[in-house]
Amino acid sequence: MESLLFAISGESLTQRLRAKIFRTLLQQDIVYFDQPENNTGALCTRLATEASDVQGATGVRIGTMLQNISNLGVGIILAFIYGWSLTLIMLAFVPFMILAGFLQTYLLTGIADKDKKVLEEAGKIAVESISNIRTVAQLTKEQYFGDEYCKKLDVCFKNSITRAHVFGLLFGFTDAIMFFGIAALFSFGAWRVQQGAMTFENVMLILNCILFGAMAVGQTASLAPDYSKAISSSKNILSLFQRIPVIDNSSTAGNELATFDGQIDLVDLEFHYPNRPEVQVLKKFNLTIEPNRQTALVGSSGCGKSTIIQLLEHFYDPTGGRILVNQNELPSLNLQWWRSQIGFVSQEPVLFDATITENIAYGDTAREVSMEEIQQAAKNANIDDFIQNLPQRYETNIGSRGTQLSGGQKQRIAIARALIRNPKVLLLDEATSALDTENERIVQEALDQASKGRTTVVIAHRLSTIQNSDRICVVHRGRIVESGKHDELLARKGHYYRLAQSKN
Ligand SMILES: Nc1ncnc2c1ncn2[C@@H]1O[C@H](COP(=O)(O)OP(=O)(O)O)[C@@H](O)[C@H]1O
Ligand SMILES: [Mg+2]
Repeated sequence: MESLLFAISGESLTQRLRAKIFRTLLQQDIVYFDQPENNTGALCTRLATEASDVQGATGVRIGTMLQNISNLGVGIILAFIYGWSLTLIMLAFVPFMILAGFLQTYLLTGIADKDKKVLEEAGKIAVESISNIRTVAQLTKEQYFGDEYCKKLDVCFKNSITRAHVFGLLFGFTDAIMFFGIAALFSFGAWRVQQGAMTFENVMLILNCILFGAMAVGQTASLAPDYSKAISSSKNILSLFQRIPVIDNSSTAGNELATFDGQIDLVDLEFHYPNRPEVQVLKKFNLTIEPNRQTALVGSSGCGKSTIIQLLEHFYDPTGGRILVNQNELPSLNLQWWRSQIGFVSQEPVLFDATITENIAYGDTAREVSMEEIQQAAKNANIDDFIQNLPQRYETNIGSRGTQLSGGQKQRIAIARALIRNPKVLLLDEATSALDTENERIVQEALDQASKGRTTVVIAHRLSTIQNSDRICVVHRGRIVESGKHDELLARKGHYYRLAQSKN
């Protein structure tokens, strides 16, 4: 009964912890995920192991521990009743045992911490190679990644050998102390019996009382490896729970604008990524994004175009300057509301392992999306015809990461997903650059259709796709160096002209 109840409480604790860890992870800002130690593999490994590790210090373990402590307590009290002097001698050994127990936990926690790091690295290798299995196979790197994984496991193995030695030594030490104690008790007891101060029975009784207590302590000590794992996992979990994201993805605080027409001003923006402070990406960047117009950003690779989009989505806070949405500071706005105003299509569309309907409906989680709307969005994205020809039509499962579709098809589903929320602002980051000419044309048509009547910021790889933009801005070294219409910019024979020359 006792074990059952403790086991149930332990399991439910694990489950609650795991759910809370996952939710907390999703709440973190992008900065958190940029940190190298928080890669996908490490986080998955932690999610899988940490919550259950904590159980090592809870549930049945708590039961055993409580039992041991009370055993020892009662044993000592009884022993005192049968003969206090003998008991005192025995108790003199207890501090040494406690010391040994403490050392065990302390040393083993250190090793458990190290183990975790290595296991996380192994997890990273596993996740990376499995999720990119095509690339791995193409590069014939299976052997390499297999070996790398084994290397990490080897480290763990070596650690557990060390742990076994440490543990063995200390365990021997505690055991030895116990036997020395028993020896002392026998000699002293024999001497007292000889003197006639104590009866033989009492000596035996005390021996038994203390022995039971000491055995209990020994048992507790044998739980030390699990216990130390639990401690190190708890530490990690607590530090995660205590981390307050600068930008809380789930926050519901802040204003929602009743009338947002799509005007966005970027004023004197300064930015560097928190994990790379030495590279100043934006320097005094100024741009006014006019409502219902198409603004194009062009420039060489790495000049900071995608960074601007990420700042607009409020994934990061700029280090200087301001982003004004209809004259309101971006951080003062309700984050969920703001992101719901934005549709985003990137170079690499990310689809989920679900049906086409679900993938498109994910675009708007704020309400129940009707089938007609989904179909309309698909039509607008030029993908309805294709879907109608699939055997299961909209109920086709597209597999993890959309592996069963071509790049252009995936991209058009991603566009439909962006359109379903009827966004005020559409952000397109090289949406067609990964496609062949034929697909590019189809997707481009879908995008032209989609951006009508919306504030659109488009980053283009090929200048041909943005020639008709209302305004083209050339980004160079973190600021805008030229802006205007296509023809004006060409006539100026400056940055844009050179860019056009080099890309033709
Ligand atoms: N998450 C990140 N962490 C650190 N540096 C980054 C990150 N993303 C981009 N950068 C760096 O910021 C600079 C601008 O990148 P980006 O905005 O992606 O350029 P692009 O104009 O090609 O879209 C580059 O030097 C890039 O290496
Ligand atoms: Mg980019």
